[in-house]
Formats: sequence, C-alpha cells, structure tokens
Amino acid sequence: MKNIKKFDLEGKKVIIRCDLNVPMSNGVITNDFRIIKSLETIKYAVSKNAKVIILSHLGRIKKEEDKAKNSLKPVAKRLGELLGRKVLFAGETRGRHTKALVRNLKDGEILMLENTRYEDLDGNKESNCDMELAKYWASLGDIFIDDAFGAAHRKAASNYGIAKLLPNGIGMLMDKEIKMLSKVLKTPETPFVVILGGSKVSDKITLTEELVKKADYLLITGAMAFTFLKAAGFNIGDSLYEKEYVEYCVELLSEYSDKIILPIDIVLADDMSKPKEIITKFVNEIPEGYIGLDMGPSTLKVFKQYLEDAKTIFWNGPAGYFENPDFALGTEKLAQIITNTKATTIAGGGDTAAALSAMGYADKFSHVSTGGGASTEYLEGKTLPALEVLNEKNS
Ligand code: 3PG
Repeated sequence: MKNIKKFDLEGKKVIIRCDLNVPMSNGVITNDFRIIKSLETIKYAVSKNAKVIILSHLGRIKKEEDKAKNSLKPVAKRLGELLGRKVLFAGETRGRHTKALVRNLKDGEILMLENTRYEDLDGNKESNCDMELAKYWASLGDIFIDDAFGAAHRKAASNYGIAKLLPNGIGMLMDKEIKMLSKVLKTPETPFVVILGGSKVSDKITLTEELVKKADYLLITGAMAFTFLKAAGFNIGDSLYEKEYVEYCVELLSEYSDKIILPIDIVLADDMSKPKEIITKFVNEIPEGYIGLDMGPSTLKVFKQYLEDAKTIFWNGPAGYFENPDFALGTEKLAQIITNTKATTIAGGGDTAAALSAMGYADKFSHVSTGGGASTEYLEGKTLPALEVLNEKNS
C-alpha cells in the first residue's frame, strides 16, 4: 500500500476517505476522537497544496428521518475548528452544486461532502458498493487516499469502489493502524499480555482464540468475566452471563489454565440503572440479588503484576459499566496501570476507545485504534475488503 507521502499532491484533487462516524446526541458531537485522529492526513494534504475532498459515512441511514440526525454538517464545523481553517460543506452527496464547489476549489482548500450513506436510501448504493456511484465520486478527484480504518471491513462505494477506479494510497492514520495492529497479530514483543473485557463472550470467540494462542497471559474482565466465573464454578448472583457459552468457557479454561487469569473480586450493585447499594466482594462470596458491574481493587492488583513485566499489552473491552461513573473506576485504574508500564500499549474496540478518550488516556497509549468492528476483524486474521483493494492496485 502506497503512503500518501509518496504522491505528488501539488494542485491535485485528493479524495480522502475518513471515518468520521462519531457519536452524536441531538446534533452535538459527544466524542471527537475520530476527527482528531483524522487531522494528520488532512493537514499533510493541505500543506502540500492539494485540493482536499473529504468523504465519510455517519450512522446508518435506513429511512428519510435518519438523515437529519446523521448529517455531517456539525462534523465539518468541528473539523474546521480543530484545523483552524474553513471547511466547505457541500450539503449533498452529489449534484451540480458539488461539481461547482469542486471546480472552484483552490489549492489547500477543503471540501466535505454530505454523509455517504445518504445514498443508502436509494437501494443501498453506498453500502452495497454501487460502481456507478463510485464512478461519480471518483470523477471528482485525481487521487484517492483511504484513511478510514474504522470502515475498512465494509465494502462500500466510498472506499472499495473509488479505490478500484483511481490511483490510491493510505493516509497516516490507516498506516499507523495497520502497523500497530499487525504488531499485535504477528510480532508482539514478549511477555505479551492481552486483556479482554466488554459484555459478551459470544462477540469475541474468534478474537479470544486468536489471541490466547499468541499471548503469554489473557486477563479477563468486564461482563464477559461472569460467563468465565460461572464456568469456573462460582456463584455470580444476578450478574449477566451467557448460559450457552459456559461450556465453551469451561473448555477454554482447561486448555489454557496456565494463561487465563480471572477476576478475584467484583464491584456489585443491587440495581444497574439506579443502584442504592454498591458493594465489593471476592468472587467466592457474591450474594444473590446483586449484579457485577466493575472489577474490584484486588483484581487490579493481580492484573498489575502481569502487566508490569509485559513488553506488549493489547486491551479490548472495558472492565465494567463505565458509562456510569459509579462503575468506571476499574476501567480508569486499568488504563492508569497500563500507561505506567514501559510496554508497547495498544487498545482496540469501539467502547474501549470511547472510554479511553473520555477519560483522557487515549494519547498515553502507543496506539488506540479508531476501529470497532474493523480492528476486531483485523485481529481475527480476516481480510478487510477496503485494504485488500488497495493492495491489489499498488502491489
Ligand atoms: C464503526 O463505527 O465501527 C465504523 O464507522 C463502521 O460503522 P458501521 O458499523 O455502521 O458500518
């Protein structure tokens, strides 16, 4: 894959596909991590006097009413604030207005088109990679740069389709994502410690199986730990677990008994949304009527011992119900422990990235992936279509 730095961008119309799919609430961006991570490539293209055209999806567009709350307009505004320069916004995905804006674009100027998934209303053209649509977008530019790692597992018109039609390469974010995640997958320096958390065992079966083989230790946390604790014979009170995966966890625990480390204490509450009582108990004394919502302090001490000596740490999945500050401490303390080590520290997964950026830890890691599904699929060893097409064109 050809890095953007290898292209002559001077005066060229450069289409940059970003993943600016940020969380929004009532038209307000609640986390701009993905916008911040996209800045480097955009700034570089501007510094080389390219005419920059930005494409991104936002949310999912299934019906007309989905459009208003998924407009990229606030994202264009935020991008402009972060760059300290004007970002023109087309307000449409294609049309005469867009053509005119592109024609009038001066060197170093930036134009963002509207959410590429607006095109999904008309027969899923974006998401099903309609090549007529890709051809239209490709006609706007001279070079295509894919920097949207978060969308690389999607074969869409705005990534795969355009890449088929234009000279293409990758941006700095895509480059770093691939380098850092390949390190986890292929060349982790040992001791290599993996932490898996989040809600479900069933979401992470392939990932767990890939990583447990490579890791020296696999530390289990988050709600998924309860299926493992159940498998290990503990009473887990009213904690959420996946009954149909208990047997699977029993097998995993017996095969990798020397590698898998489970929590030894848990923060529990009588109610998840409106807790009146919050208690911490060792895993052999969890009472009925309580739900486990965070990792306990003794588990943190145990995990710290494994993490202190690690040379590579990979973390996917929060340690608790971090959206509620009462249960965010485990995730935050774990981030603190990890970022105080000398290891190469990599985090992946949508919730993990959201938690780390909200808690102010994202910059302290060697790398926090902007990919949710994309980082998981990459680490599962799957081929990501939007990357495969880039290889095809430039190898
Ligand atoms: C993500 O948030 O994981 C990416 O932006 C892809 O979004 P999608 O799951 O809606 O395709």
